[in-house]
Amino acid sequence: MTLELRGVSYRYPGYRRRALESVDLRVGEGAIVGLTGRNEAGKSTLCLVASGLAPASIGGELAGDVLVDGESLRVLRTHELAARVGIVFVNPASQLSGITGTVFEEVALGPVNLGLAVAETVARTRAALAAVAIEDLAERAPNRLSGGQTQLVAIASMLAMRPRHLVLDEPVAELDLEGRRLVVEALRALASGGTAMLVAEHDRELLAALDARIVTIADGRIAVPA
Ligand SMILES: Nc1ncnc2c1ncn2[C@@H]1O[C@H](COP(=O)(O)OP(=O)(O)OP(=O)(O)O)[C@@H](O)[C@H]1O
Ligand SMILES: [Mg+2]
Repeated sequence: MTLELRGVSYRYPGYRRRALESVDLRVGEGAIVGLTGRNEAGKSTLCLVASGLAPASIGGELAGDVLVDGESLRVLRTHELAARVGIVFVNPASQLSGITGTVFEEVALGPVNLGLAVAETVARTRAALAAVAIEDLAERAPNRLSGGQTQLVAIASMLAMRPRHLVLDEPVAELDLEGRRLVVEALRALASGGTAMLVAEHDRELLAALDARIVTIADGRIAVPA
């Protein structure tokens, strides 16, 4: 369960300027790498590239390679990619599928798409809801939640998939202290199972609580060597 960027440079579609330049970064099995940097440094871009969404889904031009368990993302199709690397975005509402009627269905969607049996799907969904203490939201409509609740649903959705690789872009931005504590615990548990995790985050305290190795990005380049 490793995630590795080798000499990665990336340009958004329609832009000349490279948002990432010669990035080398390795996240080993069970490791949590915390990605910090100022606004516009390239954290979110690195998350998009590390998860394979860029360029596969949003276009643009990639040089170098992103390797998942040593295998290049270039050769994986989009649906295979989704099964390989989980991503939690900075804006949790954008992450809701929009096709489910309840939070329970929303969190179950990942396991269902993985083709898991019903009993396993239900068990994982319950466990994921419990991990971030949102069992009481199970029957609520996903589009009628507060920002913090939506963020917890997005994280529960990822936990339910038990991804081997997980990329999180400011996953706790809308959470209070108790929500952050729950997320830290859940992510540490996932990492102790071997998941390779990349967390873009301004909050150093959160990264310390995660025991993350800190990597800093500035102007699209890794400033502190990985
Ligand atoms: N969709 C896009 N199209 C073109 N350029 C983009 C796009 N998204 C981001 N950029 C540019 O890429 C650079 C890096 O932005 P990015 O969003 O990765 O920064 P960030 O470190 O996540 O910042 P923040 O802390 O504000 O979230 C910026 O110059 C930004 O303007
Ligand atoms: Mg960002």
